[in-house]
Amino acid sequence: MAKTVASKELTEVSEAQIAVHWKEEEHYQPSEKFKAQANMRDTHILEKFGLAKFPDCFKEYADMLTWFEPYHTVLDTSDAPFWKWFVGGKINASYNCVDRHLAKYGNKAAFIFVPEPEAERDVTIKYQELYTSVNELAALLRGLGLKAGDRVTFHMPMVPELPITMLACARLGIIHSQVFGGFSGQACGSRIQDSGSRVLITMDSYWRNGTLVDHKTNADIAVRTAKDLGQDVDKVLVWQRYPGKYSAKTPMIPGRDFFMNDLLKEYKGQKVEPVPLPSEGQLFLMYSSGTTGKPKGAQHSIAGYLAYVTGTSRWILDIHPEDVYWCMADIGWITGHSYIVYGPLANAATSVLYEGVPTFPDAGRPWRIAERLGVNIFHTAPTAIRMLRKLGPQEPRKYKYRFKSMTTVGEPIEPEAWRWYYDEVGKREAVITDTWWLTETGGFLGTTVPAIHAMKPGSCGPGAPGIHPIIYDETGAEIPKGSGKAGNICIRNPWPGLMQTLWGDRDRYVKTYFAKYNKNPRSKDWRDWPFMCGDGAVQAADGYYRILGRIDDVINVAGHRLGTKEIESACLTVPEVAEAAVVPVQDEVKGRVPEVYIAVKPGVPPSQDVIDRVIKANEEVIGKIARPKHVYIVPDMPKTRSGKIMRRVLAAISNRRDVGDVTTLANPDVVEQIRAMVQGKDTITTREALPEDIAKFGQAE
Ligand code: WTA
Repeated sequence: MAKTVASKELTEVSEAQIAVHWKEEEHYQPSEKFKAQANMRDTHILEKFGLAKFPDCFKEYADMLTWFEPYHTVLDTSDAPFWKWFVGGKINASYNCVDRHLAKYGNKAAFIFVPEPEAERDVTIKYQELYTSVNELAALLRGLGLKAGDRVTFHMPMVPELPITMLACARLGIIHSQVFGGFSGQACGSRIQDSGSRVLITMDSYWRNGTLVDHKTNADIAVRTAKDLGQDVDKVLVWQRYPGKYSAKTPMIPGRDFFMNDLLKEYKGQKVEPVPLPSEGQLFLMYSSGTTGKPKGAQHSIAGYLAYVTGTSRWILDIHPEDVYWCMADIGWITGHSYIVYGPLANAATSVLYEGVPTFPDAGRPWRIAERLGVNIFHTAPTAIRMLRKLGPQEPRKYKYRFKSMTTVGEPIEPEAWRWYYDEVGKREAVITDTWWLTETGGFLGTTVPAIHAMKPGSCGPGAPGIHPIIYDETGAEIPKGSGKAGNICIRNPWPGLMQTLWGDRDRYVKTYFAKYNKNPRSKDWRDWPFMCGDGAVQAADGYYRILGRIDDVINVAGHRLGTKEIESACLTVPEVAEAAVVPVQDEVKGRVPEVYIAVKPGVPPSQDVIDRVIKANEEVIGKIARPKHVYIVPDMPKTRSGKIMRRVLAAISNRRDVGDVTTLANPDVVEQIRAMVQGKDTITTREALPEDIAKFGQAE
């Protein structure tokens, strides 16, 4: 018995330390021109944010904000690991993003909204106009009886009304919870329930790939879902994509649904003083997927979060008020919250907000927008880079835009794709920051400081200033740099951008992010609480980190985290399905996509109809991004003798790999049947090693 346990541990250790082969890439240097104008040029910046200077180094970020009352304590660790930053201060995020810029930048554009239809005109929103809209909307929300600490859920597309609504909430201390507009009504409903929102704010319609989508229909589903789960929604506030005109077919429900533009008439010209809120108040919730089927609400603070995204927007994105910045992410994700709304606005940026799909109507669209609006900072995800490269590798050459800096975020980027981004999109002139971080972390964890560090394709770089990563193996031993071994990347120290907790679930917060490497649960010393990010990583001899992907059964589809348990429970809503297992498959454009294996109940014949309904169930329960690439009906799932589904075997089959030794399974024969079904009779599997995240898939159970 003892022998079995020991050998199991040994296997785990050796798998965690698996050697990771990837050719060392050459370094690229930032240009002298970029360096000369950069916000952060101090070559000692990482030492200034060294652990010896922690936590006081972060005062520099707090000093970038305007405070109503100063804080007295930089970091309070008394309720470890629920860190409190800048305690005692009073502050307002809306004031910092809008009001304080009026004197100098009132006439400058805060946002330039670009509608998806190319014939439709841009809408420029100056800081002064943003101020007016945010105030009127805050007056309206206050008029509805909403106040600090209340939660309001949004299900909004990429339109200026979204940041306006966020800032109006922030002005009053209302905690906003924006659900990505592409998520289904059901997904929105379960997040309404978890957050306890009584108000839903949405929009009637929006443009996506050439179609004006009826989005109001999702609000009805969301309210119904929330009600079934026990949460009543009293009011649905509906923005109109074309003010004064209703662009959805779904009827409004009298007494519950109201057009925002009608209600706003009563509040014209009204002003609302920004409420001085405690540093430790909550700014917003952002739901994300984890190991269990229940999405978790990352709860972000007002002061710590805002300080962190303001500082990193200034130093890493290198935003100056005179720049024209464009982040193509959706505001419905953390990247949009931190690096379209709060960080850039706190720096008085001019930001482009694009409604639609980057490749609509063709792969030249982003470059036309960049040229026309004079964009000089560009920010996107590897999935968009791969797509634009595939559809229009030479397109950027046709346009005369010039970027000084570019960012990539959300997934590991292959050195090949990185080089296209650098050579073609950046025209060998723009620096690239590869920023690695998570919904939970508020802002960047791993990145170069662009004027100071060389770039290395495929690696994010060192820790951001004040972020001190460490890679542990399964036993808690540190994996040294340059060893070529991978492990679990953690952050040694707290930082202001880190979420405060998971909404309503302190235990899950501690368990998910700290339990594994904490040795003393009673310790109040932050050194005892490394934060586990949930990614595998290797550190090269030069100190740069390469992120290998999630280690917790989360599939990163086109930069969006989807929990396998969420997908599997969606499949199980189809009554004929007895068992479901989902695995990640490598995809040329999206990085990873889910593939689904199902076993049907006894007596049910396998049919295309069941497959179609499984696909539909995923779209309805989660959203179109969860659409499986394939659904296979299998005679039985490969299982261990204790009955556990071997997802790793299925992942090997889906990724055209050799399944390895399966003789210890309860039903080894079924593996060959499934393999033949998926790969065909004589498909040759590749011997190439599986990427780390897929190789480790299924171990978190
Ligand atoms: C992955 C997005 C490699 C990683 C901001 C992480 C990355 C997850 C990078 C978080 C990057 C994000 N290189 N992988 N530059 N950025 N990831 O919460 O696996 O949507 O854990 O936050 O995306 O995704 P999330």
